[in-house]
Amino acid sequence: MAGCACKSPEPKTIPYDEIAKIIQKYKGDSSAIIPILQDTQDLLGYIPKESISFMAKQLEVPPAKIYGIVTFYAQFRLNPIGKYNIMVCEGTACHVNGAKQIGNAITDDLGIGGGETTEDGLFTFEKVACVGCCSLSPVVVIEGETYPGLTPDKIRKVLKQYKDKEAQKQN
Ligand code: FES
Repeated sequence: MAGCACKSPEPKTIPYDEIAKIIQKYKGDSSAIIPILQDTQDLLGYIPKESISFMAKQLEVPPAKIYGIVTFYAQFRLNPIGKYNIMVCEGTACHVNGAKQIGNAITDDLGIGGGETTEDGLFTFEKVACVGCCSLSPVVVIEGETYPGLTPDKIRKVLKQYKDKEAQKQN
């Protein structure tokens, strides 16, 4: 597996003024931490660690309280997402039909584990709950497209298509 792939891509500058506006929208109410985090993630695609101390100060709560919420709920992510978010379903049907092998093939191919992003910022590997098409399991969703009945070989071919697409853009 590659080094700490989850550190890239480089985080953007944190728009503290925009986050302050979100907090104002909820009148600085510390009981609104979850919607504040949701709006922040909608804005930035993730919750930058630096923004947590800022929110904590504004809401007058300990940073550990916000950090605890972010790490408790699977909907929040602390790292920027890649261009292609590979959502591997780990619901019961997919699990029974080989989701783990699909995840392993992704890790072998891209060098990233669940929740990580490749160093070039192209791919994020995300484990998700049932995506609602169990009869097609195991499935992976990338950019809104569902890939059904996967095997390790098939997912490698799917990944190759995305890599080729990107390579073509660079030529
Ligand atoms: S368990 Fe994977 S689609 Fe339902």
